Amino acid sequence: MTNFEYRNPTKILFGKGQIASIAKEIAPGTKVMVTYGGGSIKSNGVYEQTMAALSGCTVVEFGGIEPNPEYETLMKAVRLGRAEKVELLLAVGGGSVLDGTKFIAAAIPFEGEEWDIVRKGAPLERSMPIGSILTLPATGSESNAFAVISRRETSEKLAFASDHSYPQFAVLDPETTFSLPPRQVANGVVDAFVHTMEQYMTFPAKAELNDRFAEGILQTLLEVGPRTLANPEEYDARATFVWSATLALNGLIGCGVPQDWATHMIGHELTALYGIDHARTLAAVAPHLWRVCQEGKAAKLLQYAERVWGIKDGSAAERMEAGIRKTEEFFEAMGLPTKLSKYENVQAGTAQEVAARLEGRGFKKLGERGEVTPALVEQILARSLAA
Ligand code: NZQ
Ligand code: ZN
Repeated sequence: MTNFEYRNPTKILFGKGQIASIAKEIAPGTKVMVTYGGGSIKSNGVYEQTMAALSGCTVVEFGGIEPNPEYETLMKAVRLGRAEKVELLLAVGGGSVLDGTKFIAAAIPFEGEEWDIVRKGAPLERSMPIGSILTLPATGSESNAFAVISRRETSEKLAFASDHSYPQFAVLDPETTFSLPPRQVANGVVDAFVHTMEQYMTFPAKAELNDRFAEGILQTLLEVGPRTLANPEEYDARATFVWSATLALNGLIGCGVPQDWATHMIGHELTALYGIDHARTLAAVAPHLWRVCQEGKAAKLLQYAERVWGIKDGSAAERMEAGIRKTEEFFEAMGLPTKLSKYENVQAGTAQEVAARLEGRGFKKLGERGEVTPALVEQILARSLAA
């Protein structure tokens, strides 16, 4: 196990009716900017519950944060927040609203070109305080330090991270997610699954507890994913899914282990180019990446096949392939294609283009060993593009 530092400052308020608890977390009289997306919170009761809980505060609203939040949109909120001198930002929505709000909170007090926070990873000296009410389990953004921001004019989609960007609190009321369309539920399950794999499917680090944490999350998602998709209002299945998605990317399972993240880096480029949902890009990249990087990942692929899927028979090569095949079948059964060739608008030169874009950003050595070079990215995507 490698050395690590771990601190997660986000207070989790989990369960039915917990939106009301934010009244305890925000001092009366605080000027709160409530940020949200395209309006789902107005049709599922979340908006009303939020406003009731904020009755002792002054509220400034900013709606319209789109999926894959846009820099242009977020800068409008930054100007509003500065003009109104807001004191706290409350993000109500999915990963896009949360990530967008982390950017707004960082940019309001930032002196300089705000895009540098994203493009150059400019260090933040401070950020406005953030609270969150999560309505889509997937990204882990509700209790992590990351945000992913898009800029359409340059077709960029880039991540930044700061210790100042953790929400102070996160409400996870599984009932607020009952209104999700099946596609978003399936996306969320696969995103959480791949987050876990990015921190597990590397090489053994003698971090046995972390391996078991990861395998536990994977097995749980395999079990409750299809169940919560089929029975959206079965509370316990949904609650287990929500908690799994948070734990998959709140820093805990990544302590002391090597991490990959190449699938995410490639996936972000695919979303920037074609607007494909984040989780769908992961489903269309990860299995091909595991195959191409099979040699370096062999020990973990075998462990995964046996412990997560119960595959014990056959040669090493057969067991590794069987584990990857099972995973593909799971993604497909959830409704996520595992081939880029299934997306009509994806063009033939995509493998080369994504490789060149990553190279241009200086991302020439991705993965847990830095072995995912632009040439390997091309190979991975070529497999996904093959019919
Ligand atoms: O905008 P509204 O009207 O709210 O509708 C949203 C949106 O259309 C809808 N939705 C959310 N909650 C709902 C609901 N509809 C009905 N009922 C509800 N309860 O769902 C749609 C998608 O929302 P979005 O927030 O975009 O989805 P998700 O949570 O999957 O977030 C994706 C974004 O997060 C980034 C992705 O790259 C992408 O930009 N990620 C952030 C990470 C992080 N901060 O750590 C890590 C991830 O790997 C990921 O990259
Ligand atoms: Zn993700």
